[in-house]
Amino acid sequence: MYGIVNKAIEDLIISNFGLDKWEKIKERSGIDLDFFISNESYDDTITFQLAQSVSEEMNISISEVFVAFGEWWVLKTTNEKYSGLMQSGGNNLKQFLINLPLFHNRVVFIYPKLTPPEFRVSEVLDNSLQLHYYSKREGLQEFVRGLIQGLGKYFETEVEIELLASRNEGDDHEIFLIKWQ
Ligand code: HEM
Repeated sequence: MYGIVNKAIEDLIISNFGLDKWEKIKERSGIDLDFFISNESYDDTITFQLAQSVSEEMNISISEVFVAFGEWWVLKTTNEKYSGLMQSGGNNLKQFLINLPLFHNRVVFIYPKLTPPEFRVSEVLDNSLQLHYYSKREGLQEFVRGLIQGLGKYFETEVEIELLASRNEGDDHEIFLIKWQ
């Protein structure tokens, strides 16, 4: 994944827990890099190694790491660096989710070698919809949950998220039922 993803994990740790904690996490991960370059591609294993080390060092589950990271990604990383792009996604949670399937088409202009997630929406009602998540990568479903929670906070909208289907349960993609007020 592009370095901006690993850098965002680094920012999350340093902003909340300080530089010492980050140094410990990096040491634990065995990753021998001084820093990440945002627009350079890194092997996906680096991101998963980092998440694993955060989990061990902070004594929280890997799911909790990805949920926290998803929220951070929306509320800090993208909002600070790409606020215009975020604003172009929609004026409220429902609109943003409906537009989500096309969102990374614009991100590709910034990161041409992107391997983006794929989203589809279905069963759209006034206060709910189903979000279908397809990915070439395994293990990021809780990241998606965190991203949706982050979008709820971004639009100051209370959200409820229920996982209806998952690759862990033998389906070929994840389906999230998202409800809002
Ligand atoms: C300005 C906003 C955004 C930017 C710049 C951005 C950029 C990126 C980048 C660089 C990656 C790494 C993929 C790679 O390097 O191959 C990524 C992955 C991902 N993004 Fe975004 N993204 C944005 C917003 C969002 C939002 C709002 C969502 C969903 C609610 C989202 C969902 C994901 C997911 C789930 C992945 C993991 C890839 C996978 O599942 O295979 N992103 N994005």
